[in-house]
Amino acid sequence: MMSNKKYTLITGASGGIGMELAKIMAEKGHSLVLAARSEASLNNLKNEILNSYNIDVLVLIADLSKPHSASMLFLEIENRGIEIEILVNNAGFGDFGHFYTSSLEKQLEMMQLNMNSLTELTRLFLPKMVENRYGKILNVASVAAFQPGPLMSVYFATKAYVLHFSEAIANELRDFGVSVTVLCPGPTKTNFDKAAEVGDSPMFKGKLPSAAEVALFGYKKMMKGKVVAIHGFKNKMMVFSGRLAPRKIVTAITRKFMEKK
Ligand SMILES: NC(=O)c1ccc[n+]([C@@H]2O[C@H](COP(=O)([O-])OP(=O)(O)OC[C@H]3O[C@@H](n4cnc5c(N)ncnc54)[C@H](OP(=O)(O)O)[C@@H]3O)[C@@H](O)[C@H]2O)c1
Repeated sequence: MMSNKKYTLITGASGGIGMELAKIMAEKGHSLVLAARSEASLNNLKNEILNSYNIDVLVLIADLSKPHSASMLFLEIENRGIEIEILVNNAGFGDFGHFYTSSLEKQLEMMQLNMNSLTELTRLFLPKMVENRYGKILNVASVAAFQPGPLMSVYFATKAYVLHFSEAIANELRDFGVSVTVLCPGPTKTNFDKAAEVGDSPMFKGKLPSAAEVALFGYKKMMKGKVVAIHGFKNKMMVFSGRLAPRKIVTAITRKFMEKK
């Protein structure tokens, strides 16, 4: 029987940063609800975790790029009597290319996943956290959140939304025992670059941090209740220098980093 137990919900737990977050949180003793589309990967992860740790793990299949899917996921969790004390909005994807030739359907699905579902889940799980005077939310944005991103315009804009939204509600919630952390990774070794077809961009060249490294950084910052968590010294410097330069220049430099040779 799983009721009255506190759980962590991780979206996009079937791979990359989300999967590593799940492993870290399992090790720390958090019971988990793992959500994504890939049932087999989630079940493999569940079995791997259950072999090593004495926690509960529930797998829920959800395509969060579809309208109402986040509310359906919330209801499924509620109906099982599961209480979410930590919400990790990690699922997301990008899409490389000129906006004017992009698939509109894909951009809208991206906006639904990266922004709407994240907002919906946050709104739906928050009241209980506020009532309990305890809760944590980890929203995964990106260093893309800090400037416009030519050739990945919608993706960068969705992450700017996640950053601003998270900072604003972190401020609103600070007197209610609920912390909101927005993790901003730079390019990281996951399936993201393949899915976004951005792997050949200069941005993804060189030695990239592993998903496990980024996940551990995010977990620690979330547990400390830090609001904005930018991973890596180089990324922090890039964000800082971007604040000082004119926006037009920042946008032009970002394009250089995105443009495939
Ligand atoms: N890797 C990077 O360079 C990087 C940099 C900055 C920020 N980020 C952010 O980090 C987060 C995690 O990405 P990642 O790098 O770990 O990439 P990843 O390896 O591609 O993992 C993405 C995760 O999101 C899930 N997902 C994708 N579409 C979904 C949908 N429609 N419904 C539900 N889940 C969905 C995937 O699961 P299924 O396919 O099974 O649904 C997968 O578990 C994203 O928000 C991304 O924007 C990544």
